[in-house]
Amino acid sequence: MLIAEAWLPASSDRNIMPNPRQRAPSRRPHWIISLLLFVCIAAIALYVYPPQRYSACYLLSSKVCGPFTEWLPPVRRARVYTDDELFARVVISDILSVHVVESKNPKIAFMFLTPGSLPFEKLWERFFLGHEDRFSIYVHASREQPAHVSPLFIGKEIHSEKVAWGKISMVDAEKRLLANALQDKDNQHFVLLSESCVPLHNFDYVYNYLLGTNVSFVDCFEDPGPHGTGRYSEHMLPEIEKEDFRKGAQWFSVKRQHAVLILADSVYYTKFKLYCRPGMEGRNCYADEHYLPTFFSMVDPTGIANWSVTHVDWSEGKWHPKAYRARDVTFEIFKSISSIDESIHVTSDSKKLIQRRPCLWNGMKRPCYLFARKFYPEALDNLLHLFSNYTIV
Ligand SMILES: *[C@@H]1O[C@H](CO)[C@@H](O)[C@H](O)[C@H]1NC(C)=O
Ligand SMILES: *[C@@H]1O[C@H](CO)[C@@H](O)[C@H](O)[C@H]1NC(C)=O
Ligand SMILES: *[C@@H]1O[C@H](CO)[C@@H](O)[C@H](O)[C@H]1NC(C)=O
Repeated sequence: MLIAEAWLPASSDRNIMPNPRQRAPSRRPHWIISLLLFVCIAAIALYVYPPQRYSACYLLSSKVCGPFTEWLPPVRRARVYTDDELFARVVISDILSVHVVESKNPKIAFMFLTPGSLPFEKLWERFFLGHEDRFSIYVHASREQPAHVSPLFIGKEIHSEKVAWGKISMVDAEKRLLANALQDKDNQHFVLLSESCVPLHNFDYVYNYLLGTNVSFVDCFEDPGPHGTGRYSEHMLPEIEKEDFRKGAQWFSVKRQHAVLILADSVYYTKFKLYCRPGMEGRNCYADEHYLPTFFSMVDPTGIANWSVTHVDWSEGKWHPKAYRARDVTFEIFKSISSIDESIHVTSDSKKLIQRRPCLWNGMKRPCYLFARKFYPEALDNLLHLFSNYTIV
Protein backbone atom coordinates (compact mmCIF):
# COMPACT_ATOMS: atom_id res chain seq x y z
CA MET A 1 0.00 0.00 0.00
CA LEU A 2 2.79 2.36 0.81
CA ILE A 3 4.14 1.81 -2.64
CA ALA A 4 0.87 2.57 -4.39
CA GLU A 5 0.32 5.75 -2.43
CA ALA A 6 3.74 7.03 -3.13
CA TRP A 7 3.30 6.48 -6.84
CA LEU A 8 -0.11 8.05 -7.32
CA PRO A 9 -0.36 11.66 -8.48
CA ALA A 10 -1.28 13.25 -5.18
CA SER A 11 -1.61 16.93 -5.98
CA SER A 12 -4.56 16.81 -8.40
CA ASP A 13 -6.53 14.51 -6.13
CA ARG A 14 -5.99 16.65 -3.07
CA ASN A 15 -7.96 19.47 -4.72
CA ILE A 16 -11.09 17.39 -4.91
CA MET A 17 -11.01 16.23 -1.29
CA PRO A 18 -13.78 18.54 -0.01
CA ASN A 19 -16.34 16.87 -2.24
CA PRO A 20 -15.00 13.48 -3.22
CA ARG A 21 -18.28 11.64 -3.78
CA GLN A 22 -19.64 13.96 -6.42
CA ARG A 23 -16.47 14.00 -8.47
CA ALA A 24 -15.60 10.37 -8.12
CA PRO A 25 -17.52 8.88 -11.08
CA SER A 26 -16.00 11.25 -13.62
CA ARG A 27 -12.48 10.43 -12.28
CA ARG A 28 -12.87 6.69 -12.56
CA PRO A 29 -11.33 6.26 -16.05
CA HIS A 30 -8.26 8.19 -14.90
CA TRP A 31 -7.96 5.93 -11.92
CA ILE A 32 -8.20 2.82 -14.01
CA ILE A 33 -5.63 4.13 -16.48
CA SER A 34 -3.29 5.10 -13.63
CA LEU A 35 -3.71 1.74 -12.01
CA LEU A 36 -3.09 -0.13 -15.25
CA LEU A 37 -0.07 2.02 -15.92
CA PHE A 38 1.24 1.35 -12.44
CA VAL A 39 0.81 -2.41 -12.80
CA CYS A 40 2.64 -2.34 -16.13
CA ILE A 41 5.51 -0.32 -14.74
CA ALA A 42 5.69 -2.59 -11.72
CA ALA A 43 5.77 -5.67 -13.92
CA ILE A 44 8.54 -4.23 -16.10
CA ALA A 45 10.52 -3.11 -13.05
CA LEU A 46 10.17 -6.55 -11.50
CA TYR A 47 11.41 -8.14 -14.68
CA VAL A 48 14.38 -5.82 -15.09
CA TYR A 49 15.31 -5.59 -11.41
CA PRO A 50 14.35 -8.84 -9.72
CA PRO A 51 13.93 -8.43 -5.95
CA GLN A 52 17.16 -9.03 -4.14
CA ARG A 53 17.83 -8.38 -0.51
CA TYR A 54 14.86 -6.34 0.64
CA SER A 55 11.84 -7.82 -1.05
CA ALA A 56 9.49 -4.96 -0.14
CA CYS A 57 11.81 -2.27 -1.41
CA TYR A 58 12.49 -3.28 -4.96
CA LEU A 59 10.50 -0.52 -6.54
CA LEU A 60 11.78 2.32 -4.44
CA SER A 61 15.10 4.00 -4.73
CA SER A 62 17.49 3.34 -1.87
CA LYS A 63 16.86 6.86 -0.60
CA VAL A 64 13.15 6.31 -0.21
CA CYS A 65 13.70 2.81 1.00
CA GLY A 66 16.40 3.67 3.53
CA PRO A 67 14.09 4.19 6.49
CA PHE A 68 12.18 0.98 5.83
CA THR A 69 15.22 -1.26 5.46
CA GLU A 70 16.06 -0.50 9.08
CA TRP A 71 13.13 -2.55 10.33
CA LEU A 72 12.73 -5.07 7.54
CA PRO A 73 14.51 -8.32 8.26
CA PRO A 74 17.13 -8.89 5.55
CA VAL A 75 16.05 -11.65 3.18
CA ARG A 76 19.08 -13.59 1.99
CA ARG A 77 19.00 -15.51 -1.23
CA ALA A 78 19.01 -19.20 -0.43
CA ARG A 79 22.39 -20.53 -1.47
CA VAL A 80 23.87 -24.00 -1.62
CA TYR A 81 27.34 -24.03 -0.09
CA THR A 82 30.25 -25.05 -2.28
CA ASP A 83 32.07 -28.16 -1.07
CA ASP A 84 35.00 -26.17 0.27
CA GLU A 85 32.68 -23.84 2.13
CA LEU A 86 30.63 -26.70 3.53
CA PHE A 87 33.76 -28.47 4.83
CA ALA A 88 35.08 -25.23 6.32
CA ARG A 89 31.76 -24.46 8.04
CA VAL A 90 31.60 -27.93 9.58
CA VAL A 91 35.17 -27.76 10.89
CA ILE A 92 34.61 -24.24 12.22
CA SER A 93 31.39 -25.02 14.03
CA ASP A 94 32.96 -28.13 15.51
CA ILE A 95 35.94 -26.15 16.83
CA LEU A 96 33.54 -23.59 18.30
CA SER A 97 31.37 -26.20 20.01
CA VAL A 98 34.14 -28.24 21.60
CA HIS A 99 34.64 -27.32 25.22
CA VAL A 100 38.01 -25.66 25.67
CA VAL A 101 40.27 -27.53 28.08
CA GLU A 102 41.20 -24.98 30.66
CA SER A 103 44.84 -24.74 31.48
CA LYS A 104 45.94 -24.92 35.12
CA ASN A 105 48.33 -22.12 34.44
CA PRO A 106 46.67 -19.88 31.83
CA LYS A 107 49.02 -17.48 30.08
CA ILE A 108 48.65 -14.63 27.63
CA ALA A 109 50.75 -14.73 24.47
CA PHE A 110 52.10 -11.28 23.56
CA MET A 111 52.89 -11.40 19.86
CA PHE A 112 54.99 -8.54 18.52
CA LEU A 113 54.83 -7.86 14.80
CA THR A 114 57.74 -5.54 14.03
CA PRO A 115 60.21 -4.70 11.28
CA GLY A 116 63.17 -4.89 13.70
CA SER A 117 64.11 -3.81 17.22
CA LEU A 118 61.40 -3.00 19.74
CA PRO A 119 61.92 0.54 21.06
CA PHE A 120 59.83 -0.04 24.19
CA GLU A 121 61.36 -3.28 25.53
CA LYS A 122 62.31 -1.53 28.76
CA LEU A 123 58.74 -0.40 29.27
CA TRP A 124 57.34 -3.84 28.54
CA GLU A 125 59.88 -5.32 30.93
CA ARG A 126 58.46 -3.11 33.69
CA PHE A 127 54.99 -4.29 32.71
CA PHE A 128 55.94 -7.99 32.75
CA LEU A 129 58.25 -8.18 35.78
CA GLY A 130 56.83 -10.18 38.66
CA HIS A 131 54.39 -12.11 36.46
CA GLU A 132 56.83 -14.55 34.88
CA ASP A 133 54.57 -17.59 34.80
CA ARG A 134 51.57 -15.82 33.25
CA PHE A 135 52.80 -14.59 29.89
CA SER A 136 54.83 -15.62 26.88
CA ILE A 137 56.47 -13.46 24.24
CA TYR A 138 56.83 -14.02 20.49
CA VAL A 139 58.56 -11.63 18.11
CA HIS A 140 58.11 -11.64 14.33
CA ALA A 141 60.83 -9.33 13.01
CA SER A 142 60.26 -8.99 9.30
CA ARG A 143 63.22 -6.84 8.28
CA GLU A 144 66.15 -7.19 10.63
CA GLN A 145 67.20 -9.14 13.67
CA PRO A 146 66.20 -7.06 16.73
CA ALA A 147 68.81 -5.88 19.21
CA HIS A 148 67.51 -6.55 22.73
CA VAL A 149 67.84 -4.41 25.81
CA SER A 150 65.68 -6.63 28.03
CA PRO A 151 66.54 -10.27 28.84
CA LEU A 152 62.81 -11.07 28.68
CA PHE A 153 62.93 -10.68 24.90
CA ILE A 154 66.13 -12.58 24.17
CA GLY A 155 65.54 -15.65 22.02
CA LYS A 156 61.85 -14.88 21.50
CA GLU A 157 62.07 -14.34 17.74
CA ILE A 158 60.20 -16.83 15.61
CA HIS A 159 61.08 -17.72 12.04
CA SER A 160 59.97 -14.66 10.07
CA GLU A 161 59.37 -13.65 6.49
CA LYS A 162 59.24 -10.30 4.74
CA VAL A 163 56.06 -8.30 5.30
CA ALA A 164 54.71 -5.79 2.80
CA TRP A 165 52.35 -3.14 4.11
CA GLY A 166 48.75 -3.83 3.20
CA LYS A 167 49.50 -7.16 1.54
CA ILE A 168 48.56 -10.69 2.50
CA SER A 169 52.09 -11.21 3.85
CA MET A 170 50.90 -9.19 6.86
CA VAL A 171 48.17 -11.74 7.56
CA ASP A 172 50.68 -14.54 6.97
CA ALA A 173 52.97 -13.07 9.63
CA GLU A 174 50.01 -12.92 12.06
CA LYS A 175 49.27 -16.58 11.37
CA ARG A 176 52.95 -17.48 11.85
CA LEU A 177 52.86 -15.82 15.27
CA LEU A 178 49.66 -17.66 16.20
CA ALA A 179 51.06 -21.00 15.02
CA ASN A 180 54.08 -20.57 17.28
CA ALA A 181 52.10 -19.33 20.25
CA LEU A 182 49.44 -22.07 19.99
CA GLN A 183 52.13 -24.71 20.56
CA ASP A 184 52.21 -23.71 24.22
CA LYS A 185 48.98 -25.21 25.58
CA ASP A 186 48.98 -22.76 28.49
CA ASN A 187 48.50 -19.80 26.15
CA GLN A 188 44.79 -19.00 26.36
CA HIS A 189 44.66 -15.54 24.83
CA PHE A 190 46.71 -14.09 21.99
CA VAL A 191 47.46 -10.40 21.67
CA LEU A 192 48.91 -8.89 18.50
CA LEU A 193 51.06 -5.81 19.12
CA SER A 194 53.28 -3.57 17.04
CA GLU A 195 56.61 -2.03 17.91
CA SER A 196 54.86 1.28 18.54
CA CYS A 197 52.37 -0.10 21.09
CA VAL A 198 52.53 0.60 24.83
CA PRO A 199 50.53 -0.81 27.75
CA LEU A 200 47.88 1.42 29.37
CA HIS A 201 47.31 -0.63 32.52
CA ASN A 202 49.30 -2.88 34.80
CA PHE A 203 49.73 -6.58 34.12
CA ASP A 204 47.05 -7.84 36.52
CA TYR A 205 44.45 -5.56 35.00
CA VAL A 206 45.26 -6.70 31.45
CA TYR A 207 45.39 -10.37 32.48
CA ASN A 208 42.04 -10.28 34.24
CA TYR A 209 40.42 -8.25 31.47
CA LEU A 210 41.44 -10.65 28.70
CA LEU A 211 41.04 -13.96 30.52
CA GLY A 212 37.91 -12.96 32.41
CA THR A 213 35.69 -12.93 29.34
CA ASN A 214 34.70 -15.32 26.56
CA VAL A 215 35.03 -13.00 23.62
CA SER A 216 37.84 -12.04 21.30
CA PHE A 217 38.55 -8.38 20.77
CA VAL A 218 38.39 -8.09 17.01
CA ASP A 219 37.48 -4.70 15.62
CA CYS A 220 34.58 -4.98 13.18
CA PHE A 221 32.01 -2.72 11.58
CA GLU A 222 30.09 -2.26 8.37
CA ASP A 223 31.44 0.68 6.39
CA PRO A 224 29.48 1.30 3.18
CA GLY A 225 32.06 3.87 2.01
CA PRO A 226 35.06 3.62 -0.32
CA HIS A 227 37.40 2.46 2.48
CA GLY A 228 34.93 -0.24 3.48
CA THR A 229 32.60 -2.13 1.19
CA GLY A 230 34.00 -0.06 -1.71
CA ARG A 231 37.00 -2.42 -1.54
CA TYR A 232 34.88 -5.53 -1.98
CA SER A 233 35.38 -7.54 -5.16
CA GLU A 234 32.71 -9.77 -6.67
CA HIS A 235 35.41 -12.37 -7.25
CA MET A 236 34.84 -13.23 -3.59
CA LEU A 237 31.50 -14.74 -4.50
CA PRO A 238 29.88 -17.10 -3.78
CA GLU A 239 31.44 -17.54 -0.34
CA ILE A 240 31.63 -13.88 0.60
CA GLU A 241 28.75 -11.63 -0.39
CA LYS A 242 28.98 -7.88 -0.43
CA GLU A 243 26.86 -7.54 2.69
CA ASP A 244 29.25 -9.85 4.56
CA PHE A 245 32.22 -7.55 3.99
CA ARG A 246 33.51 -5.84 7.16
CA LYS A 247 36.26 -3.51 8.20
CA GLY A 248 38.35 -3.23 11.35
CA ALA A 249 41.76 -2.38 12.75
CA GLN A 250 44.44 -5.02 12.39
CA TRP A 251 45.45 -5.20 16.07
CA PHE A 252 43.42 -8.07 17.47
CA SER A 253 43.39 -10.06 20.65
CA VAL A 254 41.80 -13.50 20.37
CA LYS A 255 40.91 -16.41 22.60
CA ARG A 256 42.43 -19.82 21.93
CA GLN A 257 39.48 -21.24 19.99
CA HIS A 258 39.55 -18.28 17.63
CA ALA A 259 43.32 -18.54 17.18
CA VAL A 260 42.78 -22.15 16.04
CA LEU A 261 39.98 -21.03 13.71
CA ILE A 262 42.28 -18.55 12.00
CA LEU A 263 44.77 -21.32 11.26
CA ALA A 264 42.03 -23.79 10.25
CA ASP A 265 40.51 -21.49 7.65
CA SER A 266 41.74 -21.58 4.11
CA VAL A 267 38.50 -20.97 2.17
CA TYR A 268 37.93 -17.37 3.28
CA TYR A 269 41.64 -16.66 3.63
CA THR A 270 42.21 -17.65 -0.01
CA LYS A 271 39.50 -15.24 -1.19
CA PHE A 272 41.28 -12.36 0.54
CA LYS A 273 44.69 -13.52 -0.63
CA LEU A 274 43.55 -13.47 -4.26
CA TYR A 275 41.02 -10.66 -4.35
CA CYS A 276 41.84 -8.20 -1.58
CA ARG A 277 45.14 -6.56 -2.40
CA PRO A 278 46.52 -3.14 -3.26
CA GLY A 279 45.64 -2.22 -6.84
CA MET A 280 42.92 -4.87 -7.16
CA GLU A 281 40.57 -3.79 -9.99
CA GLY A 282 41.91 -0.26 -9.75
CA ARG A 283 41.20 -0.01 -6.02
CA ASN A 284 43.22 -0.72 -2.95
CA CYS A 285 42.11 -3.47 -0.63
CA TYR A 286 44.13 -4.30 2.49
CA ALA A 287 43.62 -7.86 3.69
CA ASP A 288 44.77 -7.10 7.23
CA GLU A 289 41.88 -4.63 7.65
CA HIS A 290 39.17 -6.86 6.23
CA TYR A 291 39.91 -10.57 6.43
CA LEU A 292 39.49 -11.24 10.16
CA PRO A 293 36.58 -8.80 10.72
CA THR A 294 34.71 -10.35 7.77
CA PHE A 295 35.63 -13.91 8.73
CA PHE A 296 34.53 -13.63 12.37
CA SER A 297 31.38 -11.69 11.60
CA MET A 298 30.42 -14.54 9.26
CA VAL A 299 31.31 -17.53 11.42
CA ASP A 300 30.99 -16.31 15.03
CA PRO A 301 29.50 -12.80 15.15
CA THR A 302 28.59 -12.90 18.84
CA GLY A 303 32.02 -14.25 19.76
CA ILE A 304 33.77 -10.95 19.04
CA ALA A 305 33.50 -7.66 20.89
CA ASN A 306 33.63 -5.58 17.67
CA TRP A 307 36.31 -3.29 19.06
CA SER A 308 40.07 -3.64 19.44
CA VAL A 309 41.70 -3.25 22.88
CA THR A 310 44.49 -1.24 21.21
CA HIS A 311 43.70 2.45 21.04
CA VAL A 312 44.68 4.60 18.10
CA ASP A 313 43.68 8.17 17.40
CA TRP A 314 42.31 8.80 13.89
CA SER A 315 40.60 12.04 14.88
CA GLU A 316 43.02 14.20 12.89
CA GLY A 317 41.48 12.72 9.74
CA LYS A 318 44.81 12.13 8.02
CA TRP A 319 46.09 9.14 6.10
CA HIS A 320 47.99 7.95 9.19
CA PRO A 321 46.80 8.07 12.81
CA LYS A 322 48.18 10.50 15.34
CA ALA A 323 51.67 9.54 16.52
CA TYR A 324 52.73 10.63 20.01
CA ARG A 325 56.04 12.40 20.52
CA ALA A 326 57.91 12.67 23.82
CA ARG A 327 56.22 15.97 24.68
CA ASP A 328 52.75 14.45 24.15
CA VAL A 329 53.34 11.81 26.81
CA THR A 330 51.63 13.23 29.88
CA PHE A 331 49.65 11.84 32.77
CA GLU A 332 46.55 13.56 31.34
CA ILE A 333 46.76 11.94 27.93
CA PHE A 334 46.96 8.49 29.51
CA LYS A 335 44.15 9.27 31.87
CA SER A 336 41.96 10.38 28.99
CA ILE A 337 42.74 7.36 26.76
CA SER A 338 42.24 4.87 29.58
CA SER A 339 38.92 6.38 30.57
CA ILE A 340 37.31 5.96 27.13
CA ASP A 341 34.41 3.53 27.51
CA GLU A 342 32.71 3.84 24.11
CA SER A 343 34.01 2.55 20.82
CA ILE A 344 33.60 4.85 17.84
CA HIS A 345 33.40 3.94 14.17
CA VAL A 346 33.01 6.47 11.37
CA THR A 347 31.89 5.46 7.89
CA SER A 348 34.09 6.58 4.99
CA ASP A 349 31.22 7.66 2.71
CA SER A 350 30.10 11.26 2.38
CA LYS A 351 27.66 10.87 5.27
CA LYS A 352 30.51 10.15 7.72
CA LEU A 353 28.08 8.44 10.05
CA ILE A 354 29.41 8.03 13.56
CA GLN A 355 28.58 4.80 15.36
CA ARG A 356 29.08 4.91 19.12
CA ARG A 357 28.78 1.76 21.18
CA PRO A 358 29.47 1.26 24.88
CA CYS A 359 32.37 -1.11 25.55
CA LEU A 360 30.59 -3.92 27.34
CA TRP A 361 32.73 -6.43 29.21
CA ASN A 362 30.56 -9.34 30.41
CA GLY A 363 27.64 -6.95 30.11
CA MET A 364 29.28 -4.16 32.17
CA LYS A 365 30.46 -0.88 30.76
CA ARG A 366 34.26 -0.80 31.14
CA PRO A 367 37.18 1.11 29.62
CA CYS A 368 37.76 -0.14 26.07
CA TYR A 369 41.53 -0.03 25.84
CA LEU A 370 44.45 -1.95 27.30
CA PHE A 371 47.15 -0.79 24.89
CA ALA A 372 47.77 2.26 22.72
CA ARG A 373 49.67 3.16 19.56
CA LYS A 374 51.48 4.88 17.89
CA PHE A 375 54.37 6.19 19.96
CA TYR A 376 57.69 7.47 18.64
CA PRO A 377 60.78 5.79 20.17
CA GLU A 378 61.76 9.18 21.63
CA ALA A 379 58.78 8.88 24.01
CA LEU A 380 60.44 6.04 25.94
CA ASP A 381 61.95 8.07 28.81
CA ASN A 382 58.72 9.90 29.51
CA LEU A 383 56.79 6.65 29.35
CA LEU A 384 59.14 4.97 31.84
CA HIS A 385 58.93 7.98 34.10
CA LEU A 386 55.14 7.97 34.08
CA PHE A 387 54.52 4.24 33.91
CA SER A 388 53.88 3.44 37.56
CA ASN A 389 51.63 6.49 37.81
CA TYR A 390 49.32 5.99 34.88
CA THR A 391 48.98 2.24 35.31
CA ILE A 392 47.72 2.42 38.89
CA VAL A 393 44.73 0.33 37.85
C1 LIG B 1 31.98 -18.41 29.04
O1 LIG B 1 31.15 -19.35 28.39
C2 LIG B 1 30.70 -20.41 29.19
C3 LIG B 1 29.95 -21.40 28.34
O2 LIG B 1 29.51 -20.84 27.17
C4 LIG B 1 29.87 -19.85 30.32
O3 LIG B 1 29.41 -20.89 31.13
C5 LIG B 1 30.71 -18.89 31.14
O4 LIG B 1 29.94 -18.29 32.13
C6 LIG B 1 31.30 -17.81 30.24
N1 LIG B 1 32.23 -17.03 31.02
C7 LIG B 1 32.24 -15.71 31.03
C8 LIG B 1 33.29 -15.06 31.85
O5 LIG B 1 31.46 -15.06 30.36
C1 LIG C 1 29.21 -7.60 17.17
O1 LIG C 1 28.46 -7.22 16.04
C2 LIG C 1 27.62 -8.24 15.54
C3 LIG C 1 26.94 -7.70 14.31
O2 LIG C 1 27.89 -7.51 13.28
C4 LIG C 1 26.61 -8.66 16.59
O3 LIG C 1 25.84 -9.73 16.12
C5 LIG C 1 27.34 -9.06 17.86
O4 LIG C 1 26.42 -9.33 18.87
C6 LIG C 1 28.30 -7.98 18.31
N1 LIG C 1 29.07 -8.48 19.43
C7 LIG C 1 28.86 -8.08 20.68
C8 LIG C 1 29.70 -8.73 21.73
O5 LIG C 1 28.07 -7.21 20.96
C1 LIG D 1 52.83 10.39 40.26
O1 LIG D 1 51.77 10.46 41.20
C2 LIG D 1 52.12 11.02 42.44
C3 LIG D 1 50.94 10.92 43.38
O2 LIG D 1 49.73 10.93 42.72
C4 LIG D 1 52.55 12.47 42.22
O3 LIG D 1 52.96 13.05 43.45
C5 LIG D 1 53.72 12.49 41.24
O4 LIG D 1 54.09 13.80 40.94
C6 LIG D 1 53.35 11.77 39.95
N1 LIG D 1 54.53 11.68 39.09
C7 LIG D 1 54.49 12.05 37.83
C8 LIG D 1 55.76 11.87 37.08
O5 LIG D 1 53.49 12.53 37.31
